[in-house]
Amino acid sequence: MSEDLVLWEKIPPLATITINRPKALNALNTKVLSVLDQSLDEISREDEIRVVIITGSGEKAFVAGADIAEMSNMTSLEGANFSRLGQLVLRKVQELKKPVIAAVNGYALGGGLELALSCDFAYASENAKFGLPEVTLGIIPGFGGTQRLPRLIGKGRAKELILTGKMVSAKEAFEMGIVNKVVPLDKLMESVKDVAIQISKNGPIALSIAKSLVDVGYDIPLDDGCILESRSFGMCCAMEDTKEGMKAFLEKRKPVFKGR
Ligand code: CAA
Repeated sequence: MSEDLVLWEKIPPLATITINRPKALNALNTKVLSVLDQSLDEISREDEIRVVIITGSGEKAFVAGADIAEMSNMTSLEGANFSRLGQLVLRKVQELKKPVIAAVNGYALGGGLELALSCDFAYASENAKFGLPEVTLGIIPGFGGTQRLPRLIGKGRAKELILTGKMVSAKEAFEMGIVNKVVPLDKLMESVKDVAIQISKNGPIALSIAKSLVDVGYDIPLDDGCILESRSFGMCCAMEDTKEGMKAFLEKRKPVFKGR
């Protein structure tokens, strides 16, 4: 049964992961995190999946946070382990060798916003609400929110959200740069799938290297990042897909990328 807590379906070249606990607004407990972890492993092995979408079940929530009922009885050690588990699963999302897009279809609070932040980028529905309300519970964000949010929107705006615990609308989240696009709820999956399909047409190894260069490069000095970029660029030049991409351009046809 626990597998049902996270559903994933494959319609190549896309896979959609749905956090599926609608009665608890898709809150992340230990079991959900473990099944999500397993789903990511399965998806990572499927070459025909080129882009992954993560969303929440129902029309109300993407994910309303880590499970407060489960956390309410945790000891200090259990809390640290839970936080670390969440961080590691979200790191797996970030480091997946395929682009991952969050389709935020409602509340993205606490661990839910942290899940969206671990994706490569997010689109939201107009009804979505964003926030890190942990301090209102007397706790702090524990799945990377204090680290990823300031990197995305700057320290000042991140601290305002983290220290007030307030919720912001999808429009405000767009203005802050938390999400890339806001659309009506009934157009969300269509919009996310459109951009996912556009991405999926590109060379899969180039996508994987490019996303990782942005993430790794963000945390290191510019010159080191540029050196890493040159080496990766050189590596790309030797790839079959790169030869195919350039040959296809010169022959005025669409490339057929094989992931080699
Ligand atoms: N954990 C566990 N259960 C949750 C939950 C959560 N994060 N969020 C909602 N639920 C449950 C509610 O307890 C309720 O269950 P019952 O029907 O059994 O009572 C059900 O989902 C529906 O929720 P509400 O009745 O509260 O719905 P609402 O429409 O009145 O309010 C809401 C919606 C504003 C999102 C409200 O549910 C809420 O504030 N949720 C908590 C948000 C939050 O604080 N998230 C941060 C958690 S801490 C965290 O995430 C730490 C971390 O970084 C690791």
